[in-house]
Amino acid sequence: MLSTSDLLAHTLAETDFHPRLPQQRRLYEAAKAAIHKQQLGAGSKLPSSRDLARDLGISRNTVIAAFEQLAAEGYVHSELGSGTYVSDLQAHSASMRGVGSAPHSPRAAVPSSGGGMPLSHRGQALTSFAAGPRFEIQPFAPGDADFSSFPFKLWQRLQNRVWREARADLLDYGQSGGYLPLRQAITEYLRISRSVKVQVEQVMITSGTQQSLDLCAQLLADVGDTAWVEDPCYWGARRVFEARELKLHPITVDSDGMALEEADLATTPKLIYVTPSHQYPTGAVMSLTRRRELLDVAVRKDAWILEDDYDSEFRYTGRPLAALQGLDNDDRVLYMGTFSKVLYPGIKIGYLVVPPALINGFKSALYDLQRPGQLMVQAALADFIALGHFTTHIRKIRQTYGARRELLRRTLVHQLGSQLAQTVTISSEESGLHLVVELPDRVDDVALEKLAAESGIQVKALSTYYLAPPVRRGLLVGYAYCTPEKIAYYGRLLAAVIQSGVR
Ligand SMILES: Cc1ncc(COP(=O)(O)O)c(C=O)c1O
Repeated sequence: MLSTSDLLAHTLAETDFHPRLPQQRRLYEAAKAAIHKQQLGAGSKLPSSRDLARDLGISRNTVIAAFEQLAAEGYVHSELGSGTYVSDLQAHSASMRGVGSAPHSPRAAVPSSGGGMPLSHRGQALTSFAAGPRFEIQPFAPGDADFSSFPFKLWQRLQNRVWREARADLLDYGQSGGYLPLRQAITEYLRISRSVKVQVEQVMITSGTQQSLDLCAQLLADVGDTAWVEDPCYWGARRVFEARELKLHPITVDSDGMALEEADLATTPKLIYVTPSHQYPTGAVMSLTRRRELLDVAVRKDAWILEDDYDSEFRYTGRPLAALQGLDNDDRVLYMGTFSKVLYPGIKIGYLVVPPALINGFKSALYDLQRPGQLMVQAALADFIALGHFTTHIRKIRQTYGARRELLRRTLVHQLGSQLAQTVTISSEESGLHLVVELPDRVDDVALEKLAAESGIQVKALSTYYLAPPVRRGLLVGYAYCTPEKIAYYGRLLAAVIQSGVR
């Protein structure tokens, strides 16, 4: 078992503290966290300040200051001549409820049911497998665009112009679905570039796909309703549906997209989530036959199709494919897009196109539940699109990413050599921000993901995106964020990792 010194040393090393947080506060936070998690149970004796200072390599005064803070807040108490002990927080909270304030009642929230976190049951379920903090993007992280190529100066000019106009109305909450000129610009873009059938009233500005999906889940489904999702599936969508307590029914994806079988058709979905232009993560493009089938099924089942068109701007050969929504004659499709990939993730602007019958409900819910804002940014973005900069930017990054994709593919093909032809395939769709290196079934792709991480490579195992037992293994390799120099260097390292796994 870990000693208390080791436990605190480990927590101190693993926690991402603010660089200027003083040492005594770090120790205090580490001890407090260990007490909340019950790694230090009630009654445990803390090491003496002298021993702990020695073990952690810090000054004794620092330890004493941290202990004093913990004692003042009731987390620990000292017994004369004996030492410092962890207090019984449950007993304190009980006594607080009984007789007003206890002498050492902790000010911090107390775990509710011994679970270690002061969260509701839903809160605990939601945070139990959170993605964790986002650290610096490593080579080949899938899904990330190269936002370092964002036209900063141009954007600054557009933004300045809006601020100079000093329009007080743009400081208000965003009402009626967002800033009208932006909705108009998006309407035009979607009609021309994506063949979406849309009137401006149908377009709502959201804070990205995550929020668009959440609105759909809240407004179109009830707790316990079924949502069909692609398998493998985009984890962001999956998390939203789980948070809204929907029952997820995974449907296998093959090279033509979501492949419905008899057993699937025996279930009745309320929502159907698809990425038909470029399935995330496999890259499959949904065939026209499947698109028609899916639209028919949605009508028969009285279900809504949620079309997530997150990266269709990145198609390196030929024209971008038309959206599924454009084929829909029965108003069953809600179409969503985002500026996270084409501009930058932190802009937090996306759009949702709803069928006419849903306009009023969605507008009012968007306003009541989210209180949208950021009209100043929406105004700059409207100008960016209307003045043609958006199209120019897309053309430029499309060229850059296309070249990076080709370089990565060539590097891998060259390094993997003849072995590749027999056992490993590289996805051939000329679109998106990542490619999939598909591996034989016997290969443990999660182990390869870990091995690659040891070389500073952040690929993702395909099998981890499945809800049902995985039917394919592979690695998702992002290339958009990686400079050519890095692709050449890390591509060779990645090939070596793959070879070691396949051998
Ligand atoms: C399938 C898919 N949809 C949507 C998004 C972007 O969502 P948001 O607009 O919430 O940033 C991503 C980002 O990784 C994605 O992979």
